[in-house]
Amino acid sequence: MAADSGGLTTAAAVRVRNLHRSFNKDGGVLNGLDLDIAPGEFVALIGRSGTGKSTLLRALAGLDRDVAGHGRIEVPASVSVVFQDSRLLPWKRILDNVIFGLRGADAADRGRQALAEVGLAGRERAWPYQLSGGEQQRAALARSLVREPQLLLADEPFGALDALTRIRMHALLRKLCEAHRPAVLLVTHDVDEAIVLADRVILLDAGVVDTDVRVELTSRSRSDAGFAGLRTLLLDRLGVAADAG
Ligand SMILES: Nc1ncnc2c1ncn2[C@@H]1O[C@H](COP(=O)(O)OP(=O)(O)OP(=O)(O)O)[C@@H](O)[C@H]1O
Ligand SMILES: [Mg+2]
Repeated sequence: MAADSGGLTTAAAVRVRNLHRSFNKDGGVLNGLDLDIAPGEFVALIGRSGTGKSTLLRALAGLDRDVAGHGRIEVPASVSVVFQDSRLLPWKRILDNVIFGLRGADAADRGRQALAEVGLAGRERAWPYQLSGGEQQRAALARSLVREPQLLLADEPFGALDALTRIRMHALLRKLCEAHRPAVLLVTHDVDEAIVLADRVILLDAGVVDTDVRVELTSRSRSDAGFAGLRTLLLDRLGVAADAG
């Protein structure tokens, strides 16, 4: 990989230019992608399965150093990543997972506060296996946010959760992001989730940004005409009939 990643040169939190990534000689997964994310901006990334959403997220996280490609990537110094599974260390208690690698005498206090923020006060000494899937994802969010990242990358963080827990997690994530104001790139399969959560929705197709739409505050409500309009537009771009979505 020959990507040029380094310090920010502008006010953007994320700046990607002409990003290419490929896994074989047949063709690229990312084919000259450009993307800017402003500080504190919440961007949802959607696209058909296999279009390169996780590839882009991994490139931004610096987790693809053995993948062929080139392009320019600028991200902040402090980046946190949340995946579909919580990736908690099974041999560490919840608080120790949350503060793992964190420096400073106040690390444990910050960890406790982060756990309280995600509704897990009192579970500090539990083992990961003693938490439900939704609780494990909340612990993973606490682990990310305790680091006060300038950029939060999340790849289908609610993908394995039931519908009701997902809705609760949406409210929690929105609240946490409003309190901590990281720039966010959230990968999701779910168009409704994208519109409800994000300031902007981008749709990846053929290795570039195909659609880039801003979500007005009022459109986040499922009963709003703006929500329905955006939903129809995005499902159409995904090649899905809105009534089937
Ligand atoms: N490590 C890898 N080795 C080979 N091919 C890969 C690798 N990772 C991803 N790919 C390929 O790159 C393409 C994009 O994969 P990616 O995981 O980025 O898609 P995605 O948009 O995240 O899909 P999904 O919505 O299913 O998670 C796919 O065709 C996939 O098979
Ligand atoms: Mg993926």
